[in-house]
Amino acid sequence: MTITVFHDADALAHELAVRVLGAIARQPSIVLGLPTGRTPQPFYAALRAQTEARRTDWSQVRTFNLDEFVGVGADDPGSYRAYMERELFGAVGVARQHVGFLDGRAVDLAAECERYERAITAAGGIDLMVLGIGANGHIGFNEPAPGLHARTHRARLEAGTRASNADLFDGDVAGVPDEGLSMGMATILRARSVVLIATGEEKTAAVEGMLRGPITTRLPASFLQLHPAAVVLLDRAARPMEA
Ligand code: PGA
Repeated sequence: MTITVFHDADALAHELAVRVLGAIARQPSIVLGLPTGRTPQPFYAALRAQTEARRTDWSQVRTFNLDEFVGVGADDPGSYRAYMERELFGAVGVARQHVGFLDGRAVDLAAECERYERAITAAGGIDLMVLGIGANGHIGFNEPAPGLHARTHRARLEAGTRASNADLFDGDVAGVPDEGLSMGMATILRARSVVLIATGEEKTAAVEGMLRGPITTRLPASFLQLHPAAVVLLDRAARPMEA
C-alpha cells in the first residue's frame, strides 16, 4: 500500500479532491465509490470548492455509496443518501439517475443487496473507491467478526459505529439504526483504484493494524493489503509510529 502523510486533514482533503477531479477530467463517465462519516466532510467541501474553481462537469459521473442504514429512507435527514445530497450531489450536479444507492427501506433487503451488486456490475465496476476506516477497523459496515461477507449484505452495527453516527440523528444514539446494508469486502476490493483516508489520533491503532498487522476478519480494513494498488492518505495525527 502506498502511504502519504499530510500536515493536516484539510491538506489531505484538498489533495484528494484534486486527484478525483483529475480522474473525472480524464474519464468523464467514471464510476466512483463513495463513503460517508465525519472524515470525508473536508474532502466533500474541497470537491465542492474545486468543482466551482475548475468548472468540472459531473453530469456523466456515476456513483455508488458504500452503505446505508436499514429502515431509513432517502428522505430521512439521518440517511446516508440525504448526507450525500447535502455534502456533494446537490452542490456539484451529479445526475440523480447516475446515483447508485442502497435502499434501507426496501421490502426485500436480500433482493436489494443483489440488485446493488448487479447495478455495480452493469456500470462496468467501480473505477475509484474512496474509503474511510472505523476506529475498530471496519470498512463500510463490514464490522470485525469471525467471518466477513464478500458481497453486499445486511449487517449488524457495533455500538461504537452507532455512536459515531449519532450526529445524523440529532445526537441521539438510540435513534441510530442497529442494522445497515453494506458493500462486501469483495465488492470493495474489486474497485480498480482504492483510496483510504484516515484523520485523527482515534484512528491510529486501526491504521497501524491495517498497514502492518496480519490480514484478519477482526480488522476488515487489513484486507486492503490484498488490493494491487491501494493508496492510504493520513494526517499526522492518524499516522502510526513508523509509517
Ligand atoms: P468517521 O467514520 O469518518 O465518522 O470516523 C469512518 C468510517 O466509519 O468509515
